[in-house]
Amino acid sequence: MKTSSLLLAIAAATCLAAVARAGNFYQDTEMTWGDGRGKVVNAGRGLDLTLDRTSGSGFQSKSEYLFGKIDMQIKLVPGNSAGTVTTFYLSSHGDTHDEIDFEFLGNVTGEPYTLHTNVFTQGQGQREQQFRLWFDPTRDFHTYSIVWNPQHVIFAVDGTPIRDFKNHEARGVAFPRSQPMRLYASLWNADDWATQGGRVKADWSKAPFVASFRGFSADACVWSDGRQQCPVGTMEAAAGGRSWWNQQLSDMSYRRMRWVQRKFMIYNYCEDAKRFPQGMIDRADMDGSSRINDSSSFQTPSEIGR
Ligand SMILES: *[C@@H]1O[C@H](CO)[C@@H](O)[C@H](O)[C@H]1NC(C)=O
Ligand SMILES: *[C@@H]1O[C@H](CO)[C@@H](O)[C@H](O)[C@H]1NC(C)=O
Repeated sequence: MKTSSLLLAIAAATCLAAVARAGNFYQDTEMTWGDGRGKVVNAGRGLDLTLDRTSGSGFQSKSEYLFGKIDMQIKLVPGNSAGTVTTFYLSSHGDTHDEIDFEFLGNVTGEPYTLHTNVFTQGQGQREQQFRLWFDPTRDFHTYSIVWNPQHVIFAVDGTPIRDFKNHEARGVAFPRSQPMRLYASLWNADDWATQGGRVKADWSKAPFVASFRGFSADACVWSDGRQQCPVGTMEAAAGGRSWWNQQLSDMSYRRMRWVQRKFMIYNYCEDAKRFPQGMIDRADMDGSSRINDSSSFQTPSEIGR
């Protein structure tokens, strides 16, 4: 009897924690700019950002985090989105800041978006990897995730990892692990560079442009008053191998990531010999060893049926 009521109490606490994490944009975020162009919708369950000729808009999380799993569902600007950039990223402050970026560069109708990713550590970026998506990101919401733990920064799209930036501090590469970061999102005009190198401009007759956000969830350690507070159960789950805290790619997810990289990666700083003629020593996206036979084929469910 005692045991079962204790279990119930634990279950209730777990549920409460889970409910508290499922994002409500009123509670968890605040508009930062755009003068009314960003709006919380659906009683807090969604948020729309808009961009017109005068201004874009943006919001940020109220909390700062030091490690976590952050998910956001986004439906990008449809139709002619040339010149627009939608962002979803974590960042700390200052000259030696850390930053983990998802940026979506729009395009003219019928041409593909570019998903641009980057990782800054101690103020240094230049670690871009760019991808095509294997679906139309403007038709439906898709989930974009950042798993940030002491050993990995994993970027995922609908649960499929696309990038794994590893902790290579032992080789002298800085890793983001001491500066708390806040979540930011924005929709802005970057038509001087974003689309086809800036040749294609935004078509303002189609404005306002709208990008929609929902399903914000931060299963994350919150930084407050100089202390890190992780969700109840994080370390227990980690000990059982069920937490983002010590998540790494399984062989299966590694193969899925390599599949995406082979088929959809369009730029990789690690292979840019023009830009880094001396060779990029700071390649925390590379594997130290080829632990998996890379030429093995893998199909994600979304490729089947295309
Ligand atoms: C837009 O479409 C063109 C043509 O398909 C492509 O070269 C370009 O990479 C696409 N994305 C952006 C952001 O320009
Ligand atoms: C890797 O896989 C390919 C295709 O399955 C196979 O032909 C090749 O021999 C394998 N290489 C190694 C080193 O196992």
